[in-house]
Amino acid sequence: MSTGAIEVAADCVSVLNSVTRSLPFPITTADTVKEKFPEEVRLRFRVLDLRRPQMQSNLRLRHKVIKHIRRYLEDRHDFVEPGTCFALPQSPQLFKQMLMASGFEKYFQIARCFRDEDLRADRQPEFTQLDMEIAFTSMEDMLNLNEELMIHIFQEVGDIKLPKCFPRLTYTEAMNRYGTDRPDLRFDWELKDASDVFLGSSFKVFADTLENGGVIKALCVPGGAKVFSNTDLKKGTVYAEASKAGAKGLPFLKVMDNGELEGVGPLVSSLKPEKKEHMLEILDAKAGDLILFALGEQSTANQVLGRLRLFIAHKLEVIDTSAHSILWVTDFPMFEWNSDEQRYEALHHPFTAPNPEDMNDLPSARALAYDMIYNGVEIGGGSLRIYKSDVQQRIFEIIGISPEQAEEKFGYLLECFDMGAPPHGGIAYGLDRLVMLLARESSIRDVIAFPKTTTAQCSLTKAPSPVDPQQLKDLGLRTS
Ligand code: AMO
Repeated sequence: MSTGAIEVAADCVSVLNSVTRSLPFPITTADTVKEKFPEEVRLRFRVLDLRRPQMQSNLRLRHKVIKHIRRYLEDRHDFVEPGTCFALPQSPQLFKQMLMASGFEKYFQIARCFRDEDLRADRQPEFTQLDMEIAFTSMEDMLNLNEELMIHIFQEVGDIKLPKCFPRLTYTEAMNRYGTDRPDLRFDWELKDASDVFLGSSFKVFADTLENGGVIKALCVPGGAKVFSNTDLKKGTVYAEASKAGAKGLPFLKVMDNGELEGVGPLVSSLKPEKKEHMLEILDAKAGDLILFALGEQSTANQVLGRLRLFIAHKLEVIDTSAHSILWVTDFPMFEWNSDEQRYEALHHPFTAPNPEDMNDLPSARALAYDMIYNGVEIGGGSLRIYKSDVQQRIFEIIGISPEQAEEKFGYLLECFDMGAPPHGGIAYGLDRLVMLLARESSIRDVIAFPKTTTAQCSLTKAPSPVDPQQLKDLGLRTS
């Protein structure tokens, strides 16, 4: 045909097999099945769903991403891929670390991983990582190579031009300015610290918070004053979102057209003219804007406003969906304090190298770790590793692993460090997430041929299913 498509005029048609049942949904080029049928139906009849052009194109895109990754890493950078493996959490990492000690300087694998985590739109119990490890690398070389890899993949597969150098934020900056360690920078709203506006304030809740060592953080929503009713802010969707992040209340102010403030009464009256000016200046707030406050511990206040920042931006549709925000988040803390168990835990994992500048105070040290964030989604994360057994032992000790336990669980790794392991580091990408974003889908289930539901079930085969007694016997298991 003039379009270039081929029309077949058949002389004779022989039917090899026929459709003997009515199909649960039509197979069309329009991607409307998604809106018209529950996902459960698509997953139950996945074979049909996969015939839809949209799903065909998603899976072909997935293949293309993998092909370009292989070509780029193998042909341009001399990486080797000795084989793929099935692995439990973190374990592929220890094997790739040991390959570095085995003399393979650049290694990658496209590995299937299994994790028992809460499931969400961007998480699956069984997912795929592009996992790489490099010996004798500095952090700069590692970040550069990965920037180049992503620039290449986005260009080749998505025709998207990423910036030559990705911006970087430290973990502390990301948390303080955007309330999350995976900020979406397609819009520039920032959280601000308004504590000094309220020092000695007559508004008791704020004054008490500051006296108890807490902070008052604020988020200015441009043009938000008229969009959200007071009810929305006091008990509606916005309030619900804040409480999900741990807020006990949601103090707010609206800057009216005449410049007057409205909102929580005692808060309005507590603000003397010069304090009000100071606040509006810090927040760059203008007539028509809405100001939301979060108070208490810095981390909780950041979390509340970080969540509201995203929620409201989506609601007001201020995010430019044609924009691309890619960045590195670096300098994560090595440890987090688990107050329930009264002990430190590794924020990433205990094999991450501490920043050499922080060796004198390891519990509060920064890690040589980095996450790559695209449009608010963590697509990859990694670190330079510990490669000396004495440092590894000190880290184990901080998280409560005794030398005996360390020997028992990780003796093979410590032994490998003691046999001349080179300095090394690595990174892993969530391949499904990367493909999801390149395919402009909002769930990784749309780029995996046979995914699990959010309750970790396979709708098609009905797995997991009850086991018969013989299977249990074969496995030496007993149910109680
Ligand atoms: P991490 O746990 O950050 O690091 O995982 C790396 C990347 O894998 C993706 N990812 C997932 N994708 C789908 N479903 C999941 N359940 C899931 N969990 C993680 C994310 C994430 O950025 N061993 C380290 C890597 C390293 O340091 O080399 C690791 O696994 O996109």
